[in-house]
Formats: sequence, C-alpha cells, structure tokens
Amino acid sequence: MDKLVIEGGVPLSGTIRIHGAKNAALPILAASILADGAVTIRNVPRLLDIQVMLDILQDLGCRTAFRGGTVTVDGSGASSSHVPESLMRRMRSSVFLMGPLLARFGEVQVYQPGGCAIGERKIDLHLRGLEALGANIEATGNRIVCRSGRLRGAEIILDFPSVGATENIMMAAVLAEGRTTIVGAAREPEIQDLQRFLNEMGAIVRGAGTDTIVIEGVSSLSGCDFEVIPDRIVTGTVMVAAAATKGEVTLTGAQPGHLTSLIHVLRRAGVQIQVENDIMKVRATDRPRAVPRVVTSPYPAFPTDLQAQMMILLALADGVSVIKETIFEGRFKHAEELCRMGADIRLDLNTAFIRGVPRLYGTTVEATDLRAGAALVIAGLAAEGRTVIEQVHHIDRGYDRIEDMFSRLGGRIARHQETDKANIAALR
Ligand code: UD1
Repeated sequence: MDKLVIEGGVPLSGTIRIHGAKNAALPILAASILADGAVTIRNVPRLLDIQVMLDILQDLGCRTAFRGGTVTVDGSGASSSHVPESLMRRMRSSVFLMGPLLARFGEVQVYQPGGCAIGERKIDLHLRGLEALGANIEATGNRIVCRSGRLRGAEIILDFPSVGATENIMMAAVLAEGRTTIVGAAREPEIQDLQRFLNEMGAIVRGAGTDTIVIEGVSSLSGCDFEVIPDRIVTGTVMVAAAATKGEVTLTGAQPGHLTSLIHVLRRAGVQIQVENDIMKVRATDRPRAVPRVVTSPYPAFPTDLQAQMMILLALADGVSVIKETIFEGRFKHAEELCRMGADIRLDLNTAFIRGVPRLYGTTVEATDLRAGAALVIAGLAAEGRTVIEQVHHIDRGYDRIEDMFSRLGGRIARHQETDKANIAALR
C-alpha cells in the first residue's frame, strides 16, 4: 500500500495548470457508448476511476485507447449490456452506464453500488427516472435488471437535484422517442459539459445549468471530438492548500466561474484572490479568519467535495467556525484524523464546530475517502513536522499524482511504496 510522506511548513508557490474534471469525464465516457462511431475525448485526467470506466467499456466490447490525456472510444463493436459485479464494485460511478446501455440495447444488468465511506448513496432517483422513460426494473438481491423497448420521453420530477440521476436520465433520454423534461435537475457544471458532449454527438438537449432540462429524442448519435472542462474540485483543493500554507499560487486553465461560492468563503477567511479570465492568483499572508457558517448544498452553493479541504483552513483560523454538511451523512471522517494533528473540532450530527488553533502537528493519519484524503494532504503541507498519510489509493481516484502537483509548487511531499525507501530519504 502506498503512503504519502510530507514535511510540512513550506508555503506553496508557483504556477500550476489544472487537469480535466473527473466528474465530467466519467459520465461522458459512459455516454460515448451511445455513438455509432468513435469519439475522441480530450483533457481526460489519468486517474484510477477513469481507468476503471475504460476497463468496463472494454469489457462491454468497446475499443478504447488512452494516450497523453486523450481517450478514444469506439463503441460500434459493443455487444454486452451486463456490467460485471467485480467491476461495478470498483467504482460507484459505473451506475452511469445504466442510462446509455438501456438506450442502446433495450436492456442493462448492473449491481447495486452499495454504501460507501461517505454515506448510503442510494440510486432510487436513477431507477425512478428510467422507469418513467418506460423501463421495467427487476431488482433481486443486489442485481438490477432494466428492460425496455425504445424508451419514451416523459416528464420527470426529481425530489432532490441528484447529479448522477440527472446525468443518467439525460443519457437515456437522448435516444428516446419524443420529449423528456427533467424538472428539479441538478445544475452542476459537469451536467452542462455532458449536455455539450451529447449535443456534439447530435443529440438535442437544452437547459443544463438550470433546474429544467429538455431533451428531444433522436434516432441515432455519431462520433465527435470533445474537450472536458477543468476540474473545479482540484482547482479548489490547490486554492485552499495555497491559503493554508500561507503561500502564493497562480492557477491557469481554471474556470473561476465554477467556484464562486469557494472564492466567497476564502475571501471571508482573509485569503486574497485575483481572477482574470482562466487565471487565478491565490495569496495568503496572515492567519486565516474564522468563517461563522459554511453550508454544503447543491451547485452553485458550497460543494460537499470541498468541505473537507475547507475544514483544514478553518482548523487553523483565528476564532470559531461552523460547517454544516447537508449532502452526505458521514462525511466528517477527516475531522477525527485532524484532531490527531492538534485540531479542535466538535461534531454534532451533520455540523462541525471548529475552534481554530495556531498550528497543526504532523503525525500518521488515514485517508478514509477521496476528498478527506486530499484534505489531509493539505493539513500535512501546512503542519509542523512530518505527516504520513495511509490508504493513498483513495486519493488516486481523483487526483493525478497529487504529490507531483504539490511538489511542483514547492511542497515537500513524496510517495512511499513498500519497496521504495528512496523517496523518503530524499526528503531528509
Ligand atoms: C456526484 C459527484 C460527487 C459529489 C456529488 C454531490 C460524480 C461522479 N460524483 O455524486 O463527487 O460529491 O455529486 O455533489 O459526479 N441520492 C438519493 N437517491 C439517488 C441519488 C442520490 O437519495 O437516487 C442522494 C445521495 O444519497 C446523496 C445526495 O442525493 O445524499 C447527492 O447525491 P448525488 O447528487 O446523486 O451525487 P452523485 O451523483 O452520487
């Protein structure tokens, strides 16, 4: 198992370009199976989750290649609509294949992705949406089989703006007969990216970015060439890291418009942020100020995927801050690890009360999930002394070699494989 070893206390500085968005690339890769021809997808990050999605597409009979950030998928030879349980278990996002496979084959067999480290993560809204489009759903044990003739457009009202359910329904509806309207849709930038991709393939989708998405079904889709948006969560992670280490970092190739709520909260904490087109300069010189209330909510409000990272900054702030997590239950596992580094955090159900301390101290901590892991990396970079982070594979799901990214900004961070003691020695 890999570990990250960090010698903290060095202010980050320099310039970094942000890689493509995992959460945009995953549904787009799933949707590529809808095309009659080959699709080319650029700016795809080299991540564990992306590799799993490519493995699944290959298992279904697609031809895939991944070179230098560009993926090609030729789904013309796809012959199976059955996602094997072993692959399904490796990544929850394999649930995205339900919509496209059902639209293409009139049948799909998947397995309940089940709970995960950050909460229950149900898929009832996905299933209800597909049912409304005419699918017949049979669930036995953890196996789910959906069957249909050609799907029929419908009006679907989502009780909650689920990102995944909105995307799954969009992907199923593009080949349905007639018009589908999704009311109460999620508004995340990744949904707008999926709409752009589907339309590039010849679909007729409008409204992404608002709470009502309208899809006019077409009979076929063709290949296309597409570039994925930059990753707003990686962007936010670097911004918080720059602030927590009292550094000065320039981010290029970012989309500041996707991070309005984070920028607002960081500025309240006293972080200086300059924005010019796709360039952001983040600078912090003093101890951060406490922020009395940060609440995670669906986009455009503060993202749950940046909650853990923000907690690190507030753990170092002057005063008491409060974070309320409204999207996932059980998404405060990093708080316990942070307390072991000297933070003063009290949890009450979905609310964290954070009394800032002047400094954190390095120790051995565990990455319990992807974003909690990224947050601990920030904590390690800001802390005094050495931090060792275990279970790094969680972080690899969403960051392309996080240690390289922060090393380029002057952070003293190295990966330690059991067989490789050299990296640690290099830090001494
Ligand atoms: C996506 C993101 C994830 C992010 C989350 C919220 C991807 C690959 N992942 O996850 O990084 O943290 O959005 O911004 O894009 N829910 C139901 N029934 C459903 C579906 C969801 O009750 O059928 C609930 C979930 O349990 C959760 C909430 O809705 O409490 C949000 O889930 P959702 O928006 O669907 O998140 P994901 O698409 O899984």
